[in-house]
Amino acid sequence: MFDELRRTAPVHWNPESDGGSGFWSLTRHADVVAADRDQERFTSERFVNLEEVDERQAAIRRSLLETDGPRHAALRRVLQRAFTPRAVAGYATFLRGLTARTLDRALARGTFDFVAEIAADFPINVLARMLDVPDGDTGRLIDWGNRIIANTDPDYADVLLHSEESERYRDLPFRSPASLEVFEYGRELAAKRRGGEGTDLVSRLVNQTPIDGVPLSDRDFDNYFLLLVVAGNETTRHAITHAMRALIEHPEQAERLRDEPELMPVAVEEFLRWASPVYHFRRTATCDTEIGGTAIRAGDKVVLWFASANRDEEVFADPYRFDVTRAPNDHIAFGKGAHFCLGSALARLEMRIMFEELLPRLADVRLAGGIRRVRSNFVNGIKEMPVTVALA
Ligand code: HEM
Repeated sequence: MFDELRRTAPVHWNPESDGGSGFWSLTRHADVVAADRDQERFTSERFVNLEEVDERQAAIRRSLLETDGPRHAALRRVLQRAFTPRAVAGYATFLRGLTARTLDRALARGTFDFVAEIAADFPINVLARMLDVPDGDTGRLIDWGNRIIANTDPDYADVLLHSEESERYRDLPFRSPASLEVFEYGRELAAKRRGGEGTDLVSRLVNQTPIDGVPLSDRDFDNYFLLLVVAGNETTRHAITHAMRALIEHPEQAERLRDEPELMPVAVEEFLRWASPVYHFRRTATCDTEIGGTAIRAGDKVVLWFASANRDEEVFADPYRFDVTRAPNDHIAFGKGAHFCLGSALARLEMRIMFEELLPRLADVRLAGGIRRVRSNFVNGIKEMPVTVALA
């Protein structure tokens, strides 16, 4: 469908059947990039999912992701230094040890669910380390991430997004009651770290004074903390799972990587393009404007389909070819512009180390049953992927 839209209606109006006001779909790489870079015309402040949020709710729920301009830049600076490529390189040894332990445990089973045994555990353990919380809490962090972000999947959500019950939770991020548990957990950590010398993410959030010398308000802290739990959880998990699936389906590419491990950083970019773990983010037009000659009215929702842009034949030769040597690879799995993924260097490192450690251990890997996908138009998620492995 995206291929067809890029060809015939690259700026396409979609009505919504569930009471939403409708939205524009941008499917071409050039249009998605241009809109993502243009906060003046396309704001994130009216929220970034399809859900419509009024001013009052926006003020309560707003995180870094839904803030623009100088305030966004100030909020981002609070954690920027913790996420630079240099800073995250400091986790490489920890990551390698963690990967080895995860693989020792999982691979010994022969047949297992790749998501539960490998992909889900791994990113959350890193996040737990960055937040400086006990290893024993990772199960809760995974559970919260699932319940909050997959609010359209009955297997995960306590309250489904479009259900009547969800109206009661309109003031909570993702309308998820699980948000309250995350807030409570975050506040306990904040209370312990306030005034301390720590360099973990929570200490940075509570001890810096980003906006005119004033610390974050409790609400800003809640929403920032929740964003980290959600953003650092599902996305990398799905990227790793999709990459494994692609390598199973293209064994010659896996072989190539095994023979030439120095290709891994290039391959990781292809994993990200291929997976596009975040299908879309949405913006709202701030003024009457146009894109490619199509009139857009102030207040219209405009959806940036990263997943479509990553298959745009104008940018990627033979876009449906999975090619671990593809270069250049100007994918936008992490977005583009001011909201460019804060965790991108970390996600890249996690993926590189995972496959550097995994591939040499495998003589063979196959799917051992059907794949189950997350029901969502927001994350491109796989919730179960049974595999059988033979060790090298
Ligand atoms: C923002 C994707 C991993 C934290 C974003 C955006 C995308 C994205 C598409 C929005 C970009 C835009 O609007 O232009 C991904 C993918 C990941 C990943 C595909 C893994 C493969 C992570 C990790 C963390 C993280 C591991 C942190 C631990 C964030 C944060 C933002 C963000 C805080 C908001 C940045 C802002 O608004 O300024 N991510 N992400 N992400 N991501 Fe990631």
